[in-house]
Amino acid sequence: MSGFVPDSIDPTLVPVYRFPTEATMPKIGLGTFGSDKYSPQQIADAVRDAVRSGYRHVDCAAVYGNEREIGGALRDLAAEGVRRDDLWVTSKLWNDRHAEEDVVPACRQTLANLGLDHLDLYLVHWPFPNYHAPGVDVSARDPHAQPYRHEAFMATWRQMERLVASGLVRHIGTSNMTIPKLRLLLRDAAIRPVVDQMELHPHFQQPELFDYVVSEGILPVGYCPLGSPSRPERDRTPNDTSDMDDPAVLEIADRRGVTPAWVCVRWAIQRGQVPIPFSVKRAQYLDSLRAAIADPLSEGEMAALAAIDRGCRLIKGQVFLWKEGQTWEDLWDPHGEITPP
Ligand SMILES: NC(=O)c1ccc[n+]([C@@H]2O[C@H](COP(=O)([O-])OP(=O)(O)OC[C@H]3O[C@@H](n4cnc5c(N)ncnc54)[C@H](OP(=O)(O)O)[C@@H]3O)[C@@H](O)[C@H]2O)c1
Repeated sequence: MSGFVPDSIDPTLVPVYRFPTEATMPKIGLGTFGSDKYSPQQIADAVRDAVRSGYRHVDCAAVYGNEREIGGALRDLAAEGVRRDDLWVTSKLWNDRHAEEDVVPACRQTLANLGLDHLDLYLVHWPFPNYHAPGVDVSARDPHAQPYRHEAFMATWRQMERLVASGLVRHIGTSNMTIPKLRLLLRDAAIRPVVDQMELHPHFQQPELFDYVVSEGILPVGYCPLGSPSRPERDRTPNDTSDMDDPAVLEIADRRGVTPAWVCVRWAIQRGQVPIPFSVKRAQYLDSLRAAIADPLSEGEMAALAAIDRGCRLIKGQVFLWKEGQTWEDLWDPHGEITPP
């Protein structure tokens, strides 16, 4: 393979999750949301080099605005001999394409941009059809914003199912869901979601949702696995905490001579979620990949990390609220039932 790099990691060492279809997803993926800070080309360059270095799983989304550039990287990798079947590529349907007639064309557009004939996984990015443009601030609202409506979500989901039937997509899943919304989906779906992508890091462990999806045979994929230190301003509030500065994380990192990011990735994989850390910096994404193939943390270390959950949600989703006077908690069904319109 011409793109081989000397300090790369053998991708066959990376543990995989096996779906009922027998397809396997590497238990670490590279995130590709540049947090309004990194350019599409920087991210595509990172994807190219990360795959050359041993990554085989890339987490994309139409709204990240870089699928065309990532497609260029994927084409280079294919030319170097990276087989499509050895890559796991996820993408996501953006909120402004939930209408029945938009889902299949949106997926086809993503495939054209990525230069692929199928996706391994396609997610409904948010359960709300509420649009926000890239780069907006926290006060931005879609003037046509709506609450969650199950019938509308199922109309979108039927099109997701069509994508599986037509072969454009191998698996479908959800993101930013809650237990009551998932319950309804599982009741009504002809094809079940195989993944729920959710925010998961030591300070935000979501134990109830995590246990629920696992009990339903759904794989939790964890975003912001390092506590998203570079997230956009709209996703910062004064009480947010920082996982990589937590004394328990630092203590384990010091004792083992590893980085706090390494500890977060190792913890995530051992707990049973698939982390998708983002970085455009080689030392950082290699560090995360090394954590994925490292020896396990001890039971005591896992217990110490389980104990630092602070319920600190970072991606609160304010821009998706649908009426005046709401708080972001309303998006997350805090009372165990879908927040009424
Ligand atoms: N489904 C959804 O709604 C959703 C929402 C958010 C994210 N996501 C996905 O999840 C991915 C990851 O989330 P995220 O990017 O917000 O957060 P993250 O992965 O927790 O944090 C990424 C940041 O951490 C720093 N970092 C990375 N590796 C490091 C290392 N080894 N040591 C020290 N610092 C390190 C980098 O900061 P610097 O750049 O400052 O160095 C990087 O920008 C996204 O890229 C996206 O693919 C999905």
